[in-house]
Amino acid sequence: MKKDYWLDRWKREDIGFHQDEINPYLRQYWQELHLAPGSEVFVPLCGKSRDLLWLRKQGHSVLGVELSATAVQAFFRETNQTAHHMTSEKFDRWEANSISILCGDFFDLTKDDIKKVSAVYDRASLVALPPGMRERYTHHLLSILPPATEILLITFDYPQAEMSGPPFAVSESEVESLYHQHAKICLLGRLDVLAQNPRFQQRGLTGC
Ligand SMILES: C[S@@+](CC[C@H](N)C(=O)[O-])C[C@H]1O[C@@H](n2cnc3c(N)ncnc32)[C@H](O)[C@@H]1O
Repeated sequence: MKKDYWLDRWKREDIGFHQDEINPYLRQYWQELHLAPGSEVFVPLCGKSRDLLWLRKQGHSVLGVELSATAVQAFFRETNQTAHHMTSEKFDRWEANSISILCGDFFDLTKDDIKKVSAVYDRASLVALPPGMRERYTHHLLSILPPATEILLITFDYPQAEMSGPPFAVSESEVESLYHQHAKICLLGRLDVLAQNPRFQQRGLTGC
């Protein structure tokens, strides 16, 4: 999946993945991570997610990475925050009130960029990527995260033949194979969400 695919979607405002509400599973499961107060949370492929605001409200500093400058600017504008903007070779950094977003390619991040992170929140990030890229994404993420970082990961699973991604189907066994060498994996919940997602039904999905 090319960068232009996402840049073009933001340009056309084709952002059905964006939620105006805070993600209910973030609210429900975040406490399971037992993070120290004030710890930094990394949100890969963050879009203009309002979940960043919720994480900050829990006392975290938040670091996102997002390809699209349209998304980053929309996040700060729509949440009425004036962001401080710094440019560097690989990333433009936008920052306001303990939320920083690096605008650029996730795959250009280094250990140094996320060295203070204690947790990762992944909603619609892993599932945004096609199969080969998911391996590359996980490999890169695990190679740059500080040791003992915890990850809250939300995935979708469904018959991939019924609907083309994104979001792609990512099964429990795939999560296992992507992460098991580096992490202890704990299934927190499994829900049937098709009824709440009419846009997936319109795209042909009949069940999980
Ligand atoms: C499905 S959206 C999810 C956004 C966000 N996580 C949310 O919950 O609304 C995937 C996002 O990843 C961004 N993206 C895709 N590839 C990326 C990359 N290589 N580096 C940084 N961001 C990327 C896209 O621009 C898009 O905003």
